[in-house]
Amino acid sequence: ALPPDAVVLPDADAVAREAAERLIAVCEASRSERIAIALSGGSTPKRLYALLAGPDHVGRVPWDRVHWFFGDDRAVPWDHADSNVRMVREAFGHGTALSAAHLHFIPTDLGPEVAAEAYSRTLLAFYGADRLDPARPLFDCVLLGLGEDGHTASLFPGKPALSVTDALVAPVPEAGLTPFVPRVTLTFKAIASSALILFLVGGAGKREALRRLAAGEDLPAGRVTSRGRIEWLLDEAAAA
Ligand code: 6PG
Repeated sequence: ALPPDAVVLPDADAVAREAAERLIAVCEASRSERIAIALSGGSTPKRLYALLAGPDHVGRVPWDRVHWFFGDDRAVPWDHADSNVRMVREAFGHGTALSAAHLHFIPTDLGPEVAAEAYSRTLLAFYGADRLDPARPLFDCVLLGLGEDGHTASLFPGKPALSVTDALVAPVPEAGLTPFVPRVTLTFKAIASSALILFLVGGAGKREALRRLAAGEDLPAGRVTSRGRIEWLLDEAAAA
């Protein structure tokens, strides 16, 4: 369910600015050589990524330490309009602050099943162990969105990926919402291995899903847990 301390901000820009501050705070608090952040897809977070790479913030992000992962992606070529890789690359800006070696995308060209296994190996290789240690999170921060049907990442209501408990990454042969292409998604288990989860939710289209969550309905976004904190940033249109 939606925590009562969700922060409501005037508009999508304010949500992006607050998210940027919180991500930078995560980086500033970390003494580790490497910081792992899982990015969400969709349209809401695009402003955040552009902001981080823009003139006011670029110098505050330790780009040499941050590794960017994907919470989910669609099985389309990376130059396709529906690709989260394309969205993230465009928003961060080509060849600027972001080193290609620090952007760990999901190899969706291998097909969802093989891509899910390969990405799981990528995550564990980065983490440096065969399995997750409950005492040490995989991600310093996981960014998530909320779909109109209550999905998050590509964990859609009623789909088999919801019940995957033994893997970090799951194939999603059938999406629950447009674009109706197969996906690959982090599982609840991988998302839970996080120090912070930041939900970014904007627009009137999200009101109904937020209302259902607050009413305690069992929606995928409401099943998300973290070994650390879960924070929600909403804009006024979504929270109304
Ligand atoms: C994706 C996402 C997805 C997204 C929600 C909300 O790639 O489809 O990661 O879970 O976060 O659909 O998307 P918006 O914030 O763009 O509405």
